[in-house]
Amino acid sequence: MSKFKRNLITTALPYANGPVHIGHLAGVYVPADIYVRYLRKKGEDVVFIGGSDEHGVPITIKAQKEGVSPQAIVDHYHQMIKDSFAELGISFDIYSRTSSKTHHETSSAFFKKLYDEGKFIEKTSMQYYDEQADMFLADRYIVGKCPFCGNERAYGDQCEACGTSLSAKDLIDPVSAITGNKPVLRETKHWYLPLDQYEDWLKKWILEEHKEWKPNVYGQCKSWLDNGLQPRAVTRDLNWGVPVPLDEAKGKVLYVWFDAPIGYISATKDLTPEWEKYWKDPETRMIHFIGKDNIVFHCIIFPAMLKAEGSYILPDNVPANEFLNLEGDKISTSRNWAVWLHEYLVDFPGKQDVLRYVLTANAPETKDNDFTWKDFQMRNNSELVAIYGNFINRTLVLTAKYFDNKVPERGGLTDYDREVLAEIPAIVKRVETNLDGFHFREALKEAMSLARLGNKYLADTEPWKVIKTDKERVGTILNVCLQIAADLSTLMEPFMPFSSEKLRGFMNMEVVAWDKMGDGVVPAGHLLGTAGLLFEKIEDEAVQAQIDRLEAAKKANEMAAAKVAPAKANVSFEDFQKMDIRVGKILTAEKVAKTKKLMKLTVDTGIDKRVIVSGIAEHYAPEEVVGRQVCVLVNLEPKPLKGIVSQGMILMAENADGSLSFVSPDKEIKPGCDVR
Ligand code: 2FM
Ligand code: ZN
Repeated sequence: MSKFKRNLITTALPYANGPVHIGHLAGVYVPADIYVRYLRKKGEDVVFIGGSDEHGVPITIKAQKEGVSPQAIVDHYHQMIKDSFAELGISFDIYSRTSSKTHHETSSAFFKKLYDEGKFIEKTSMQYYDEQADMFLADRYIVGKCPFCGNERAYGDQCEACGTSLSAKDLIDPVSAITGNKPVLRETKHWYLPLDQYEDWLKKWILEEHKEWKPNVYGQCKSWLDNGLQPRAVTRDLNWGVPVPLDEAKGKVLYVWFDAPIGYISATKDLTPEWEKYWKDPETRMIHFIGKDNIVFHCIIFPAMLKAEGSYILPDNVPANEFLNLEGDKISTSRNWAVWLHEYLVDFPGKQDVLRYVLTANAPETKDNDFTWKDFQMRNNSELVAIYGNFINRTLVLTAKYFDNKVPERGGLTDYDREVLAEIPAIVKRVETNLDGFHFREALKEAMSLARLGNKYLADTEPWKVIKTDKERVGTILNVCLQIAADLSTLMEPFMPFSSEKLRGFMNMEVVAWDKMGDGVVPAGHLLGTAGLLFEKIEDEAVQAQIDRLEAAKKANEMAAAKVAPAKANVSFEDFQKMDIRVGKILTAEKVAKTKKLMKLTVDTGIDKRVIVSGIAEHYAPEEVVGRQVCVLVNLEPKPLKGIVSQGMILMAENADGSLSFVSPDKEIKPGCDVR
C-alpha cells in the first residue's frame, strides 16, 4: 500500500511569451497528462496543475521589441497556450497564471514570511547598469560570452548553448541587450536565500532518501551539491513582476524563479478551498513534471524555499525529461525551428492522438531524442493504422457481418484462446509497472503489444476462413477479440484519450475503470455501435508540406545569418564609364545541350540582335525569360562558351542563398537605352 492518500501533479509553467511546441509537449505535458489520466482511472485523488509563467525578462524583452505592454504579451499567449493544451487533451484541473491576484498575494506573503523570520540575507553589491536605458541589467537584459563554452550570446542568467546557469558577473565582455552599450557597475541591495545553509539537508534528502529519482535528475542534483551551493538572489531591479513587499524595496520585484514555482500553490488555491490538504499534508504525493533545464529550480531551490517556509510538503519525485530535437537540429523559437502545437492542430485536425502517440513513443526520457516528420508518418501508418486500427476494424467488421453486430457467445476455449486471454492481465501489469516508474515509452510499447496480440490472434485463427465450416468457433474467436478491443479502449486511454472515446462509441460501451480491465468486459449479446476508422493514413503530401515549411525556415535563417562581401577597391568614374550597359529585351531562349547551367539567349540590345550565353538555366526556364527586359553589358569581350560565341553579359543579382535574379528596369524602356 502506498503511504500516500492523494496526488498533486504539477507541470512546469511555460513562459507566456510564445506558443508551445513539441519539445514542451514531449518533455512535460504529454507524460504528465498520461500519468494523471492513469491515476484518475485507478480512482485516485489527484489534482493536475498547470499555468502560465508570466513574469521574467524574456516577456518584457518581447514586449519592448513589439512595442506593446508585457500584459498584452502574456494575455495573448496565455490564452493561446491554454486553448491549445485543452485541444490536445491535456486535462489540467486548472490552468492558471502568475499575473493573477491570488498569485501576487501568495508569492508576496511567502516572501514576507521568510523575510520576517530572518530566512534571507541582505546584500549590497555592484551590478551591471545601462546608463542610457537607465536600468539595472538583470538576467537576459545582459549578454556576453559564456566562460564555459564560448557562446557569444550567453545571457546573464544562463547559457542556452551549454545549459550552464550563470550570473551576469560570469559573462565575458558583457553588453546591454537593450542598447548594446557596455554596462557600468552600480550599487544595489538584494535579498538572498542562503542555499549553502540547506546544503547538508538537501544532500541527505536527495542523495540518500531519493536514490530512486531518474538518473539524469539525481546526477544533476549530485553535481550541484558536490560543487557546493551559494546564496542566491531572490529579488531583481525590474518593474515587471511581483513587487517586493518591503518599503525599502521600491522598483524591485521577486526573481521570476522565486515566484513561478509558488504559482503551483496559487493555482491550487484557485482550484479548491481545500488546497491546504494538497500542500500541507504529508500524505499528499507531489510530483513535478519538468524539462531538464528546470531541474535545479525544482529539486534544489524550490525545495529549499519550501523547507525555509516550513509548512509545505516536498516533491516525492521530479521525473524530468531530456530534450526533443527536430529533424536533427535543436528546437529553437528564435530560429522558428519547431513544430508549434497551435499550428499542428490546424494542419492535422482530429489527429491529437497521433501527436500524443508519436511524442510518447519517441519521448526523450533518458537521452535527447529526435522528432522527424517521416517517423511521424511511419508511426501513424505502420503502427496506429496498420496494427491498432486494423485490429479494431477487422474485429468490428467481422462481428457486424457474421453476428448482426452483437457480441457472439463463446463456445469452448482452446489452449491458444486461454493463453491469449491470460496475456491481457500480464500486459496490463507491465503497463502499470512502467507508468508507476515514469517509463512512458515502455508503457506505451506494452499497451501496443495488446493490439499486436489481437492482430496476431486474428491472423492465426483466420475467422474469415473458419466461417465456412464452423460459425460457433468464429463466435468464440470474435468474442475473444472483442474483449481485447474493449480492454484496449481502457488501456490506451491515458495515452490516446480521443481514440479511446471513439472506440467506445464504435463498441457502444461505457468507460471502464482501470482495475476492471480483463476478460468479460463486453458480455455476449451486447449490441455494438457503428464502426468507423480509428486512425486514418497520413499521406506523403501532408508531411512534405511540413518538411517544406522547415526547409523554408532553415533557408530564412541562413539568409539572415549570411554576411555580405566587403566592398571592393574604388574605381574611377572614367573606368566605370568604359562599361557600356544597355537595356535589352530577350527574344528567344533555349537550354544549351549537355550543360546544366547555360542558356542561349538572343537579345535585342537596340544596337543589334545578338547571342548571349548566360548561366541562368538552373534558376529560370526558357519560357520564363522570353520577353523580359534586362541590363546587358554589351562591350564585354566576346567569348566562346560550349562552341557558342557569347557577345555580352546579362546582369544578374545573386542572393545570399546563391539564387539569381534579373536586374530589370521597373518600367518599359526602349532597348538600347543606357544604364548608368
Ligand atoms: O523554463 C520555463 O519555461 C519556466 N517558465 C518554467 C517555470 S516552472 C515553475 F517553476 F513555474
Ligand atoms: Zn555556454
